[in-house]
Amino acid sequence: RWGKTLAAAGLASCLAGCRGVQTMLDPAADQSRHIDLIWRTMLGVCGVMYLLVLAFLAWALWRARQRRAEPDTPAVGETAADDLLSRGLTGWIALIVAGLVLLTTVSFLVDRSLAEVGPDPLRIKVTANQWWWQVDYRGQGPSENFTTANVLHLPVNRPAVIELQANDVIHSFWVPNLSGKTDLIPGRTNYMAITPRRVGSFRGQCAEFCGFEHAKMAFDVQVDDPKTFEAWRQRQVASAVDPKDFEAIEGKQVFTSKACVMCHRIQGTDAGGTVGPDLTHLMSRAHIAAGTRPNTRGDLQAWIADPQGVKPGTSMPRVALSSDELNAVVSYLETLK
Ligand code: CUA
Repeated sequence: RWGKTLAAAGLASCLAGCRGVQTMLDPAADQSRHIDLIWRTMLGVCGVMYLLVLAFLAWALWRARQRRAEPDTPAVGETAADDLLSRGLTGWIALIVAGLVLLTTVSFLVDRSLAEVGPDPLRIKVTANQWWWQVDYRGQGPSENFTTANVLHLPVNRPAVIELQANDVIHSFWVPNLSGKTDLIPGRTNYMAITPRRVGSFRGQCAEFCGFEHAKMAFDVQVDDPKTFEAWRQRQVASAVDPKDFEAIEGKQVFTSKACVMCHRIQGTDAGGTVGPDLTHLMSRAHIAAGTRPNTRGDLQAWIADPQGVKPGTSMPRVALSSDELNAVVSYLETLK
């Protein structure tokens, strides 16, 4: 019964890996499709080689046994099968060389294709911090630039060039459904091209150990049709709208009079901190604290009340707020649509 359970669990986990928001087995961009191709080629070539080697090994064992059982059988090198085998050696070497040439060629071509950028690319700069992602969109002019955090929106079928930098230690940018990994290294700029081909939600994850909360350094990637993307972009470019609700107005005052403004920026207000994530359109994001928690009122409250409890080691300090102040701040944040 254990065997059956194990087999079922194995099959389930294999199938679970084939579809999803964070898997390289479900490619949704040119780059990840090319990586998928190289992966399948390697699996095929190495799989065939592995099976052939196993088959020869089994055959050799079987013959050795037979020889021991019947001492009269001819010695090695004297049977027709041995003759065939030694003549087949050339073919065997040719097969190995062909396999290696195929793997090298595919690897070379895929590597080159990853560096190619299509026409009219969207330009995005991603800066890694312990432990969150700053995302700067660059438009046609300064008025079209905007900053967000822990989320990327990409229009489908349009190439994007992502400029990768780091503020503290080495991180790695990885959205398995869209492309391979690229390191973000302090003091240097790396580039990555992504041409998404399918609308959908995906998940990215830091793929280089970068400290205590490395595992909680994720981000959301949304591939939109061009219209939806443009609508999102227009909203992001706009400044925050002043709150109208009484509690939210009070929350804004708390936000700007307490430590919040030291680190966070809200476009259109006095809050201009650049140490932490830009909060101008916080409510347009699905998660808070770099993919750690869903963006709900309760989670926002828990996060602000005790950041070190949610994500130990985070730079976000615990700010002393009364429960009224906490509620007011959250009400204000909820107006940042
Ligand atoms: Cu950033 Cu791991």
